[in-house]
Amino acid sequence: MALSTSAPALAGLRPVLNALPALTRALVQPASAAATTLFGNVEQAPKDPILGITEKFLADTNPIKMNLGVGAYRDDNGQPVVLDAVREAERRVAGSHFMEYLPIGGLRDFISESVKLAYSDDAAVLREGQVAAVQSLSGTGSCRLFADFQKRFMPGTKVFIPEPTWSNHFNIWRDAGVEFAKYRYYKPDTRGLDMDGFLEDIKRAPAGSVFLLHACAHNPTGVDPTPEQWRQLSRAMLERGHFPLFDMAYQGFASGDCDRDAASIRIFLGDGHRLGVSQSYAKNMGLYGQRVGCLSVVCDNKRDASAVESQLKAIARPMYSNPPLHGALLVTKILQDNDLKQLWFKEVKGMADRIISMRSLLRKRLEEAGSPLPWGHITDQIGMFAYSGMSPEMVDALAAQHHIYMTRNGRISMAGVNTKNVGRLAEAMHAVTSGKL
Ligand code: LMR
Repeated sequence: MALSTSAPALAGLRPVLNALPALTRALVQPASAAATTLFGNVEQAPKDPILGITEKFLADTNPIKMNLGVGAYRDDNGQPVVLDAVREAERRVAGSHFMEYLPIGGLRDFISESVKLAYSDDAAVLREGQVAAVQSLSGTGSCRLFADFQKRFMPGTKVFIPEPTWSNHFNIWRDAGVEFAKYRYYKPDTRGLDMDGFLEDIKRAPAGSVFLLHACAHNPTGVDPTPEQWRQLSRAMLERGHFPLFDMAYQGFASGDCDRDAASIRIFLGDGHRLGVSQSYAKNMGLYGQRVGCLSVVCDNKRDASAVESQLKAIARPMYSNPPLHGALLVTKILQDNDLKQLWFKEVKGMADRIISMRSLLRKRLEEAGSPLPWGHITDQIGMFAYSGMSPEMVDALAAQHHIYMTRNGRISMAGVNTKNVGRLAEAMHAVTSGKL
């Protein structure tokens, strides 16, 4: 309906009259919830590719169900474990502290023990005061602090992330607003390291890029460079002036030896790199829910280290103010006391060894089940996960037909495999892969 301009009395009503068709539509077709509620326009977020598997597992009521999704250690009875070293540390900590706030950067003793564990007790960079370090909220929190630091103080740099990697790495750098690219890491046909691709991508990346490296027990592939390959990678990165950031979520968990698992970092340090390290005590001390970790950055000198540390605290303060106390006290008690530390070394080796033996057993059971496929990669890989090579459809069939849950990239959390369930797992894997892998 058009309104005549010669009718001044009606002119004020013009907007209402012109809106009539829309109003009529609104009355005839009731508005969707999206238009009528405050958050009606908020879409459901997609499920997390790892923690979403636990939700599916919990919803399955079949008693034979198996959760091989999230990387969380279980004993041979499928039960979560609290290490004896942690129990003893808890006993010593109980009642011994006030529940005061920690400083923004966390517990000083915890940090100094953590960086020694990563870099070695006698690392020159520690003696020279070149290391900026703060306590963090486990591995995710460390990576996120670094990503925010990168955004502010390494402007225009990209982060290069291995293909494949832990799915949360993408979320972390995306949310920090840092541009990311992938580098070649894994070769599906050899089920091994794509060393040539990796080196080529190091050369091609813009000088001064950040390279995210898994210090050991690469998640999800379980494929690590050898010490000689790390040396080559280190030299190639030095030439291009790249900044290596080591995500070390599994120190001790790969080989059972904390020094051996930190070899990559120490090779890079020896070559004179400035680098970052994200440490987590979730897996190696079983402190998953305590959210305890450490982020450290090796700088050129003491002045820079102090400035970098102050900026890391400035990032942490508005994000979570200061980190939690309890887990940091437990770690400190263990690392400061030689007897407890030795007990912990023994226990972390025990966990690593159990996983290594489950790899052999799974491979053996697959062969006994009559699988004609090559399963050597299960025993060649290292760390918490077996990157099986199964397709997303095979993984879906394992869940639907056998109540066995794992991430859709075919990653099996070997920490959830035990002498009681390995046979059923092998039979089920054989059934869904028959002749197709
Ligand atoms: C995993 O990869 O399963 C673990 O690191 C747990 C997690 O937070 O994703």
